[in-house]
Amino acid sequence: ARIFILNGPNLNLLGQRQPEIYGHETLDDVARDCAALAAQLGLETELFQSNHEGEIIDQIHRARAAAAGIIINPAAYTHTSVAILDALNAFEGPVLEVHISNVHKRESFRHHSYVSLRADGVIAGFGVQGYALALRRMAVLLG
Ligand code: DQA
Repeated sequence: ARIFILNGPNLNLLGQRQPEIYGHETLDDVARDCAALAAQLGLETELFQSNHEGEIIDQIHRARAAAAGIIINPAAYTHTSVAILDALNAFEGPVLEVHISNVHKRESFRHHSYVSLRADGVIAGFGVQGYALALRRMAVLLG
């Protein structure tokens, strides 16, 4: 089964942007590690990143026919986007929400997530390892 790993704004700068918060690994590292783990789990991953809300929504719509599950780090759109929530509500498979940092330890505007109203599980504060943990959970949910 194919799993989409969708990433929101500024995550293209992962590894360069505030490394004290988000670490030194890049999104390419995440894509490579997830692809390797997925192969072990009998899954396939497709990683996508955009700085544009509508492009993320388009990928969620694509997932309706092309993916069994979605792992999403909506980045700042987590805290603002009813439109991404609505798109996820039109997707029938499992949805897992990942945040690299522990959003609950940070500014209060990061404590609320629209996407959590839909997510079947949430991981925050495990660094980029959160993507791999979400993938393992996805294998259980789809098993
Ligand atoms: C983030 C947390 C968000 O609050 C922030 O806007 C991000 C990244 C995380 O992965 O920790 O861009 O989703």
